[in-house]
Amino acid sequence: MLRPRLCIGMSLAPTWLSGEGWRAEDSGIDGLYSSDLALDVARRSEAAHLDFVFRPDASFLPLPVMEQSFGFSSLDPTLLLAAIARETRRIGLITTISTTFGHPYLAARQLMSLHWLSHGRAGWNVVTALQGNENFGLPEMPSSDARYARAEEFTEVVQRLWASFPARALLVDRARGRYADTDLILPIDHQGQNFSVRGPLNLPEYPGPRLPLMQAGGSAMGIDFAGKAADMVFGMTPDVDTALRMRGQLSARALAHRRQPRDVRLMPGLSLYLAPTRAEAMDLFMANNIRITRNQRADRLREAVGLDVADWPDDRPVRLADLPAAHVSPRTAAHVAAIRAIIDRDSPRLGDLLARPELLASVHWQIIGTPDDAAAEIGHWFRAGAVDGFIPVPGGSVRSLDLTLEALIPRLARAGLFRDRYHGETLMEHLQDA
Ligand SMILES: Cc1cc2nc3c(=O)[nH]c(=O)nc-3n(C[C@H](O)[C@H](O)[C@H](O)COP(=O)(O)O)c2cc1C
Repeated sequence: MLRPRLCIGMSLAPTWLSGEGWRAEDSGIDGLYSSDLALDVARRSEAAHLDFVFRPDASFLPLPVMEQSFGFSSLDPTLLLAAIARETRRIGLITTISTTFGHPYLAARQLMSLHWLSHGRAGWNVVTALQGNENFGLPEMPSSDARYARAEEFTEVVQRLWASFPARALLVDRARGRYADTDLILPIDHQGQNFSVRGPLNLPEYPGPRLPLMQAGGSAMGIDFAGKAADMVFGMTPDVDTALRMRGQLSARALAHRRQPRDVRLMPGLSLYLAPTRAEAMDLFMANNIRITRNQRADRLREAVGLDVADWPDDRPVRLADLPAAHVSPRTAAHVAAIRAIIDRDSPRLGDLLARPELLASVHWQIIGTPDDAAAEIGHWFRAGAVDGFIPVPGGSVRSLDLTLEALIPRLARAGLFRDRYHGETLMEHLQDA
């Protein structure tokens, strides 16, 4: 069943400044390591009545890209959102904490702190992460199975810790001098495969709607985990068929875990290169990727599918049979599948393959065009039942961000696909309002 309205949450990773975007005079890049840049986007996202702003995060720093752009360098996402909490009133604030590198007691406390500081607007993007093991004493990345097993246990411990000091235990009865009812504050005594946590949490539960969970990861295990535990899925769906398939899988896994399909919202990333005309939008996309050299493009291809094309001429077609059978890619399964699908379908010449947006940028759903083009395509995906919403990832320039917030979102609201004012105060209420 279709939901009445889209859920929309703005990514705070300043994708519109990556590539060459940060070099523009008005880019605001100097505010990257203060709260200025993110706060500006959060305020404008709140003015557009978005469900939430969301900060993806990684715990490692690939150096080569830092020469030309800010790469993965960033403030800690939970601290950044705590600063934004004081300066906003309605918009949800979703932070990212990795279950592979973190600890559930610390995570439970940080997340519940953000929920209190924002009066019920916090959310948690649960990631198992793809890289960064060397920063946490792990000689290699644990296998996908091991990471998801740990993620399930981690999430369960966090939720039990939140419940260990329930809101009703907090009495603050001045007359009787009774601060809390300690009969209700109970240890969790968790002894598991990965963690041993006694509890209770040293912070009461926020006395309002609960803190929703987002999941990012598209493998069968990731989808099962989302069906069990997530309210939202940050998906990677380059085309409408992939989104429809993923939506179907999420519904099946939600039902298997005795939840309703609509309880798990599929919100793919949507890369938006927007401009007043289609030609300008395409120019923006090409200009933004101009400094990615042939070698860097070839490296990306090798990383994704294991094919070394350093000595190949640009006019040689690339066929599925050219790809090595066994290759373990550090990219997501969706990214690898998208690149393999292009090779399978088109057998493209190498030069054309190396110029594809899927290699140059991301394999997110991608729209390069005008705000009207974007509104029409989003309407089509939504009415087809492929997505419940999306996470805009504007690219190319500040103007592309401006057009997303100030032209695209109002068009969706006018078309009745998105709210034109807030009806609730907390993130859970916003999600249930759509
Ligand atoms: C759309 C998307 C966004 C992601 N964002 C993050 C992130 O911000 N931080 C992170 O450490 N990992 C991130 N990941 C990686 C996932 O947490 C997960 O480790 C990875 O996708 C492998 O799981 P899978 O095989 O189920 O896809 C993201 C993955 C996807 C698909």
